[in-house]
Amino acid sequence: MIRLTNVVKTFDAGSTFAVDNVSLEVIQGETMVLLGTSGCGKTTTLKMINRLIPMTSGTIEVGGRNVIEQRPEELRRSIGYVFQGIGLFPHMTIDENVSIVLRLLGYSLTDREKRARELLELVSLDPVLFSDKYPEELSGGQQQRVGVARALAAEPEYLLMDEPFGALDALTRDALQQQFLKLKKEFRKTIIFITHDIIEALILADRIAVMHEGRIEQIGTKNEILQKPASGFVRNLFAKPAEQLKDFWPDLKE
Ligand SMILES: Nc1ncnc2c1ncn2[C@@H]1O[C@H](COP(=O)(O)OP(=O)(O)OP(=O)(O)O)[C@@H](O)[C@H]1O
Ligand SMILES: [Mg+2]
Repeated sequence: MIRLTNVVKTFDAGSTFAVDNVSLEVIQGETMVLLGTSGCGKTTTLKMINRLIPMTSGTIEVGGRNVIEQRPEELRRSIGYVFQGIGLFPHMTIDENVSIVLRLLGYSLTDREKRARELLELVSLDPVLFSDKYPEELSGGQQQRVGVARALAAEPEYLLMDEPFGALDALTRDALQQQFLKLKKEFRKTIIFITHDIIEALILADRIAVMHEGRIEQIGTKNEILQKPASGFVRNLFAKPAEQLKDFWPDLKE
């Protein structure tokens, strides 16, 4: 379980609020998609959960424990984090990137290499071809898959994924989304997944939290949000994609 209660973040001593009184609960095994336009506070929210950014006020609990009462390293060990814009280490090979957390945890080289192979296969990258390459030798989509593999390395119970499939062509994105759904079913992790892509949110989410200017506008299942939008903002956000989807996705009809 991940629970945020009245979480606030200001970077400028209260002139503006990047995150403005956000409350949100992700239940065990659930995928919550945080959906919103650029600059609405999604990344800031995610980074406060594993204490990459300190919050101004409020409470965040992961697995029932207040995050500020946990050592950051210990907390981050239970959370896999996929960074927006990939964030691989350029001077490390793909193998080393994937298994960096395992090195920190003291795994032997043999165990790290074995696990890295499994993880690369899991995200459909052939270890024979990719293990010894460097990030710059991979395409953007391949690098994003390495980022996902790295987040899964220590078998964390929680996953925080910040636009992991952003900037990909439609086909690759579709393949990765399908893979995500398979992994989700298999591992039942508790996940917060950020996107600004409405279709992606509808495909992947158990529930969607719509964020706007630092605030949560609505939290609900796709049907709840499509059928009972809580505000004009939510209605407008979904209006066009919902119209397009109705032809393909009959259960979204009222
Ligand atoms: N380190 C920082 N210092 C000052 N302001 C910041 C900092 N990080 C983020 N902000 C501001 O906080 C707001 C929210 O930023 P955030 O990165 O959370 O947005 P986002 O929803 O993830 O956007 P995007 O979809 O573009 O990634 C923005 O106005 C941003 O300029
Ligand atoms: Mg962001």
